[in-house]
Amino acid sequence: MSSNDSTSTSAFAKHVAKGLSTPLAHLSSQYIYDERGSKLFQEIMELESYYLTNCEYEILEASASKLRHQFSNGGKERFELIELGAGDGLKTKLLLKDFTENATDFSYRPVDISDDILNELEQGLSQQFPNLEVDPLHASYMEALDSLQDSSEVRRVILFLGSNIGNFSFDAANEFVGKIADRMQTGDYFILGIDLRKNPRTILAAYDDDLGITAKFNLNLLTRINRELNGNFDVESWAFYPLYNPETGEVRSYLYPKTDQHVSIPQLGIERTFTIGEVIHTEVSRKYSKTELAILGRSHGLERVDILQDKRGYFADVIYRKK
Ligand code: AVI
Repeated sequence: MSSNDSTSTSAFAKHVAKGLSTPLAHLSSQYIYDERGSKLFQEIMELESYYLTNCEYEILEASASKLRHQFSNGGKERFELIELGAGDGLKTKLLLKDFTENATDFSYRPVDISDDILNELEQGLSQQFPNLEVDPLHASYMEALDSLQDSSEVRRVILFLGSNIGNFSFDAANEFVGKIADRMQTGDYFILGIDLRKNPRTILAAYDDDLGITAKFNLNLLTRINRELNGNFDVESWAFYPLYNPETGEVRSYLYPKTDQHVSIPQLGIERTFTIGEVIHTEVSRKYSKTELAILGRSHGLERVDILQDKRGYFADVIYRKK
């Protein structure tokens, strides 16, 4: 998923100018994903404690042939697989493997805002699946949704995996699902990967790894501000603090200064001292209860066809079909 390169620099600059000017400073996690941030996220996904990836892998591995039958209407119809925030496509490759091995008539459109990750994915796919029709799109989620506005002759299957939806608030998530639903035609599918509520310690451990990779991932925001906006964050003087609130289902991530820190970003007119005890909020990773899962998408003309879960019941892939 998410951001990098010069086209998005001014959006990044505007975001940082605003986010560091409010009393509770906030920087959105979508800006973590430059080349280094995307690599760090790949490292996170390999961590034992970050159970989300393995859970969804287990689900898709067990369900690939069932999904193929569903999407292709028993092998009779062509479909277009569109993945929002494709990243390295690790889990989707399970589906692509099953689909290509079973002579399925389909094309794959990975969408991501990171050019680096998209190029890497395209190269990997051409080696692993030389006959696969791939049509990558370098775009934000919203731009990708706009590209779905034109009607299609072919059934569309939209993937939004990895609990990316968890990085939205509940209302924003519902609105996003509504936007997707508005652009779907009868018979199109939408697959939504969602992390579920569970033992709070299991959840917190996924965002507080001993190797400090999640810390580096969040701190990458400061490194990126220094590099792209000539900021002077002394990154070593900042630390990472994640917090899980089982009442709201939200992991909230913060950066805090270990000693008082004066930050200057002249081109944005930012001069600010962060004293010990102040924080910069960086990310929300929301976990869903079964009730919330049932509400999501309900008012958008989507029929919930199936809820696929891993053996431990940690994660869900919800299969919606447009009525
Ligand atoms: C991309 N997103 C779903 C991840 C999450 O779990 O919120 C990003 C992440 N942040 C820390 N670890 C992983």
